Amino acid sequence: MTHLLHLSASPRGAASESLAIAETFVDTYTERHPEDTVDTWDLWDGTLPAFGPAAVGAKMAVFAGADPQGEEAAAWRAARAAFDRFDAADRLLFSVPMWNGGIPYVLKQFIDVVSQPGMVFGVDPVEGYTHLFAGRGKRAAVVYTSAVWGPALGPEFGTDFQSPYLEDWLTWTGITDISEIRFHPTLTGDAAEVRAKAHAVARDVAATF
Ligand SMILES: Cc1cc2nc3c(=O)[nH]c(=O)nc-3n(C[C@H](O)[C@H](O)[C@H](O)COP(=O)(O)O)c2cc1C
Repeated sequence: MTHLLHLSASPRGAASESLAIAETFVDTYTERHPEDTVDTWDLWDGTLPAFGPAAVGAKMAVFAGADPQGEEAAAWRAARAAFDRFDAADRLLFSVPMWNGGIPYVLKQFIDVVSQPGMVFGVDPVEGYTHLFAGRGKRAAVVYTSAVWGPALGPEFGTDFQSPYLEDWLTWTGITDISEIRFHPTLTGDAAEVRAKAHAVARDVAATF
């Protein structure tokens, strides 16, 4: 049985374009794979642990080959639990609004929580990083939305640090099978038409995901 995890980075609920597109994706996916399991993680629901002083102390202890102690151990357990929920998925769906050219901070928080040595990556002083999801058959689909920036516009409408960053991070984990679903109506585009196309792409990608 395959397990799909939808990680949702928009706090806009029923108003969210990326969530609506992701819901279209999940509807098609569950029609095609009724036996599969689906988990939705609203990254704004308060369950994502912080990655502050205790967690950073734990990470540095682990890097140094030590066992985190006390509150650092608790922070490390919380990061491990978040990682385990992430790692349980064979299929990952991200809904990702553009915020100030990049990704919403809650998604960066998620990345900082789960990107741990021995979980997502290893590192060799000579060879560099190893990518611990490589060869595990994981696939990702990402819904990217923005309102001002668009791929056909010049830099006066902003610069895209949203998809290059997320794609680089996914690739770094070892996930290289990545599909994109985009909604970038821009301020002068026909939002209804662009929206209909994005939902159609979501159905197409989900059908073979
Ligand atoms: C905090 C914030 C920052 C934003 N920054 C940008 C931006 O830099 N470029 C852009 O094109 N749109 C920006 N937007 C617009 C959103 O990307 C757009 O409304 C998108 O549809 C949001 O996705 P959602 O509807 O799933 O929440 C921003 C919106 C918010 C709330």
